[in-house]
Amino acid sequence: MTHVCEVQHPLIQHHLATLRNKTTPPDEFRRLVQRLAVLLAYEATRDLSTEMCEIETPLTRTIARRLSQRIGLVPILRAGLGMVDPLLDLLPQAEVWHLGLYRDEATALPVEYYSKLPDYSPVDVALILDPMLATGGSAIAALQALRRWGVPKLKVLSLIAAPEGVSSVTAACPEAQLFVCAIDVELNSRKFIVPGLGDAGDRSFNTPQ
Ligand code: PRP
Repeated sequence: MTHVCEVQHPLIQHHLATLRNKTTPPDEFRRLVQRLAVLLAYEATRDLSTEMCEIETPLTRTIARRLSQRIGLVPILRAGLGMVDPLLDLLPQAEVWHLGLYRDEATALPVEYYSKLPDYSPVDVALILDPMLATGGSAIAALQALRRWGVPKLKVLSLIAAPEGVSSVTAACPEAQLFVCAIDVELNSRKFIVPGLGDAGDRSFNTPQ
């Protein structure tokens, strides 16, 4: 069954409030996306595997631990791009595999326009990055692409999600783990998350909505 984690933390609630505010300008919006991505990643990376290694401190040799798996960051263009740099700060060795998906305005179905996943040696863990999970269609398309690549462990990191999208992802990809800052109330008739934050891509990149 899909593991769904709504990270409850005062820092997340505080920064999410400003992110949602319609008067928050694009530069601050981008900084908040980065800040929230770090807080979300802290929870989403809790079960990463480590291995022992020997290091030398200024005082002595000792045994320490380091990450042992190949990790892939998979931002969904465009809005997911804003979550890449903060994740790379935490996981400097991670590979970044971009997926281009946009939601057709009439059907609300995802349309793929960029994917270059190779057909050899998948990463051990993939973290799909997208600030919004509305119907879940984009996340499911990304999960299916990574499944076809053969990635054994799949995680989705989204800042906000609609209950409908969470249910769809759970049904379509029960093996995936889902980490969100907040599960909102519902989707409106245009399949926008309510209360939501508008369109994360447009607000990040200052493009007309
Ligand atoms: C938004 C969002 C997700 C998707 C969520 O992207 O960033 O990718 O919609 O909707 P879904 O769960 O119903 O699939 P959008 O299509 O607006 O593209 P953009 O990031 O380029 O703005």
